[in-house]
Amino acid sequence: MNTATVHTTPRPALLPTPPATAGLTLEENTHALLDRAAAQVAAGQAVAAFRLLTPPLSALWSEARATGQAEAMRHWCASHPLHALVMQDPFTHRAVTKPRGYAGDAVMMDFIYDGRPPAGTSVVGAEVFGATTRAGMGLSVRYRRQLLQSLIDDTVVRHERARVLSVAAGHCRELQGCLVEQPGFGGEFVALDQDPLSCQEIARVHAGHAVRVVNQGVRELAGSAQGSVLADALGRFDLIYSAGLYDYLPDALARRLTRRLLAMLRPGGRVLIANFVPGGSGRGYMELFMDWTLVLRTEAQMRELAAASGAAHASTFADPQRNVVYAELWREAPEAI
Ligand SMILES: C[S@@+](CC[C@H](N)C(=O)[O-])C[C@H]1O[C@@H](n2cnc3c(N)ncnc32)[C@H](O)[C@@H]1O
Repeated sequence: MNTATVHTTPRPALLPTPPATAGLTLEENTHALLDRAAAQVAAGQAVAAFRLLTPPLSALWSEARATGQAEAMRHWCASHPLHALVMQDPFTHRAVTKPRGYAGDAVMMDFIYDGRPPAGTSVVGAEVFGATTRAGMGLSVRYRRQLLQSLIDDTVVRHERARVLSVAAGHCRELQGCLVEQPGFGGEFVALDQDPLSCQEIARVHAGHAVRVVNQGVRELAGSAQGSVLADALGRFDLIYSAGLYDYLPDALARRLTRRLLAMLRPGGRVLIANFVPGGSGRGYMELFMDWTLVLRTEAQMRELAAASGAAHASTFADPQRNVVYAELWREAPEAI
């Protein structure tokens, strides 16, 4: 394996200190926090409620996990009146009920991108929706789409017949307004996802574009040590990216897949992968109220993943909200790029 060259961003503390009142137990502090949030949501101040709720809830949740009180804290949250209020939010509700089998499907991503609750949402539900889809984590997902859009455009401009692969594409909303949609685009964009409904949506929206939809899972793409029939069939790419997938992958599969993606690059091509970090301010709300638990990775773990996957050069950076870390990987050393 080559020695990875790594650039990193400075790493400030991600979570504020818990606002725990001295002398109160974890349970008392949690109840006080949830009581205040429920009163504010009921009074029509959901955005303010979430601004005050999410960072300290994450800090208290860290404390609960570190002190063996995780199950107890789950119970305090599930039985608190705030729970019924936030379940009126379609974003929270869909994460909990998991109609596609997991939280964080492409429909939930659309809630974040659109910022509009579906028809029939209650007033309280719409207000909470405005807070949950526009909180730190929602902003990170919107930023991620903008970043991907810029990266795709950059690739299309740099390469005459650019080939781009999105792994776990969802609805591929980052393509909207991209140079890939322009008639002059002479390359190919390949969108791969396991979910047939998501694939249908991409095919519908991009029927007139050079977009190919592949309804396959990443295990097939990663293949085995002997190779991957799917990867061979898809060919080589100038840009391969994956957003919203690594947060669900165990380390072994993440490494195997990354190694495969690097092998699928054309000379000078790059891979970009994104992962939520453990210290994000929305973690407590996601895990306690949305039943949405991700495989979180620190910037150091992303560097390790890059090195273990055989990248010759890797660069990591965090988003402005410091919720997501990105790793950009190259197969060749920098001087060859
Ligand atoms: C959080 S969404 C992200 C969608 C899109 N990349 C975005 O940023 O909006 C996760 C997507 O990963 C897909 N996915 C999850 N596990 C997968 C797997 N094993 N193989 C292929 N796709 C997968 C899901 O179907 C879903 O569309």
